[in-house]
Amino acid sequence: MLELKNVSISYRAGTKPAVSGVSLSIAAGERVGIVGESGSGKSTLTSAVLRSLPSGTRVDGTITYRGQDIGAMKATQFRELRSDQIARIPQDPLASLNPVIRVGDQLRHVIQAHRKLSKAACIPLIEAGLAEVGIPEPSLKRRAFPHELSGGMRQRVLIAMSLINEPDLLIADEPTTALDVTVQAQILDLLQRELDQRGMSLLLITHDIGVVAEVCSRIIVMRNGEIVEDGQTVDLMANPQHPYTQQLFAAASMHDANTSGKTGAAR
Ligand SMILES: Nc1ncnc2c1ncn2[C@@H]1O[C@H](COP(=O)(O)OP(=O)(O)OP(=O)(O)O)[C@@H](O)[C@H]1O
Ligand SMILES: [Mg+2]
Repeated sequence: MLELKNVSISYRAGTKPAVSGVSLSIAAGERVGIVGESGSGKSTLTSAVLRSLPSGTRVDGTITYRGQDIGAMKATQFRELRSDQIARIPQDPLASLNPVIRVGDQLRHVIQAHRKLSKAACIPLIEAGLAEVGIPEPSLKRRAFPHELSGGMRQRVLIAMSLINEPDLLIADEPTTALDVTVQAQILDLLQRELDQRGMSLLLITHDIGVVAEVCSRIIVMRNGEIVEDGQTVDLMANPQHPYTQQLFAAASMHDANTSGKTGAAR
């Protein structure tokens, strides 16, 4: 479904590339997690897929979605693909919602970017979308402004937004880091339930190895802009090959021992 071939990305000419020579593919329905230390190039990679890198950034190699070269698409064609098939859950719910537009209207704009529907025709879809992600009283809450919702609710609204046009591929870059651990666990459960129901593919970026182990069938480990390991979760957990992966797992199990019962990994 999504395929990257030998992708290298440099923000500035003459500096060390943020991503070098990355190749990976994600099959339909597959759930892939990318882990790796801060600055290893995880977000840069997803921004390349979503064509949201700053102008002047150099991208080498090819990124294809269902055989179509994303880099070569016309802007209108890519916009269609984005509203129709590839959705993103952003990291920071407050920064990602428009503070002066009611959440229901923001959901409506996402629907209308994709389908020609009247305002009135969108209302039942919006309310169903909010109910689906566990927001109580959706007919009331759709009229709320983002600041009138809790952090967890705002993240639920963003998940509702990302799902409302029924994408085939969901890209989530640290979708729960802005939330406290209890809400994190609820949001992960919600995400997993939606994935199970819809069978979409997932590319999940996180520094939390426990989260990927729980949600993803495959783990990709990045370090210094390169993939150091890529394998099925069960194999990787049982028998990590690269010393860096072994380190990551060792650190994660120590963390679990210290916070048992509180993280996604330990639930
Ligand atoms: N807009 C930018 N301009 C210049 N350099 C950037 C930009 N964004 C990221 N970088 C650099 O690219 C490298 C990779 O950053 P990236 O944000 O992809 O890391 P990451 O793996 O997502 O880290 P984190 O886990 O902290 O989110 C870093 O060295 C970073 O400084
Ligand atoms: Mg990042």
